[in-house]
Amino acid sequence: FFASVEMAPGDPILGLTETYLADPRPGKINLGVGIYVDEQGRIPLLPSVHEVEQALTAAAKPRGYLPIDGMPAYNQATQRLVFGVDSPLLAAGRVATAQTVGGSGALRVAADLLKQVAGVGAKIAISNPSWGNHRAVFRTAGFALVDYRYYDAASHGLDFAGMLEDLGRLEAGTVVLLHACCHNPTGVDLDTTQWTRLIALLKERRLLPFVDMAYQGFAQGADADAAGVRLLAESGIEAFVVANSYSKSFSLYGERVGALSMVGADRDEAARLLSKIKQTIRANYSSPSTHGAALVAGVLGSTELHARWEQELGSMRERIHAMRAGFVERLAAYGAPDFGFINRQAGMFSYSGLSKAQVHRLRDEHAIYALDSGRICVAALNRANLDTVAAAVAAVSR
Ligand code: LMR
Repeated sequence: FFASVEMAPGDPILGLTETYLADPRPGKINLGVGIYVDEQGRIPLLPSVHEVEQALTAAAKPRGYLPIDGMPAYNQATQRLVFGVDSPLLAAGRVATAQTVGGSGALRVAADLLKQVAGVGAKIAISNPSWGNHRAVFRTAGFALVDYRYYDAASHGLDFAGMLEDLGRLEAGTVVLLHACCHNPTGVDLDTTQWTRLIALLKERRLLPFVDMAYQGFAQGADADAAGVRLLAESGIEAFVVANSYSKSFSLYGERVGALSMVGADRDEAARLLSKIKQTIRANYSSPSTHGAALVAGVLGSTELHARWEQELGSMRERIHAMRAGFVERLAAYGAPDFGFINRQAGMFSYSGLSKAQVHRLRDEHAIYALDSGRICVAALNRANLDTVAAAVAAVSR
């Protein structure tokens, strides 16, 4: 049966972690995967989350199935966090939200559903570059993929004119994948003026915006980072899609907590969308799991814990900002070329500009792991490893 099965290539991100774990060298450093670790190099268990977890354990409950679309309190809290507490879209009942198995689950459920709607001509435009799994998810769901210009290597910034030009050429009905904030891998985001211009174009060309929000709160704050979503909501655009994740913002990576929200033209359309989302989930994994959703719903459902979580998120964000500044400063001290642009990038990553050959030298000669694209997870830097990393990056970039 399986004699003709070929070996699939390792995943560029999670496969790299496997290689890192198998590396016997002491002092190895993993700057590959997008995971926030604290000053001690540990994935934090946020105190607000821990408090809810202890309360859940104290009042241990039997484990029935969740509804196909997940925990109602979680979905409602997600809608308020993503669209804003006073969102007219929510008041009008235009948003269909379902808990999903991480943000990736939201992407895949939406991809399957949108493929059904669009049929053979399903096409999605993805920024160049983007998170590698975006392409894999939509390709596997049967979409044709097109790239749009995004990153300008010369300025280490946004090629906004190129982006608008490429999107302006797309056929009506094409899905356009956008990163809400903390663009992965570049850390280069749109400002509100650019969002407004982009949305006008999407509306005029009848393109379907699909926002992936995996890092809400890591650029400026939970509300500020949802600016693109809020502007889409205000724009009067008829339909758009949001996938969001709590992996990073709640430090709940392994709990796989995400959600899919689809905005329809009216309440009736949203009800039909929800029915289709549920049908797609049922045929994929039946229903999501309980624990992570209960943690998130518990935090967001309490005014006091919600406020504490925002502070905890703020501390993670500020530590990353400090690491960016420290990294740039240490790189200069070690005589590296100018890396000042790292201070202008947002979120967990720095698109360092290192070539694949330089990244391989980092791994082979210094036991420091980064992605072949040159992406470095700044959130994995700390005061103890900053000098080692800066010295090694300076050495391979000379
Ligand atoms: C990343 O980009 O490193 C994260 O989103 C983790 C992943 O699943 O790739």
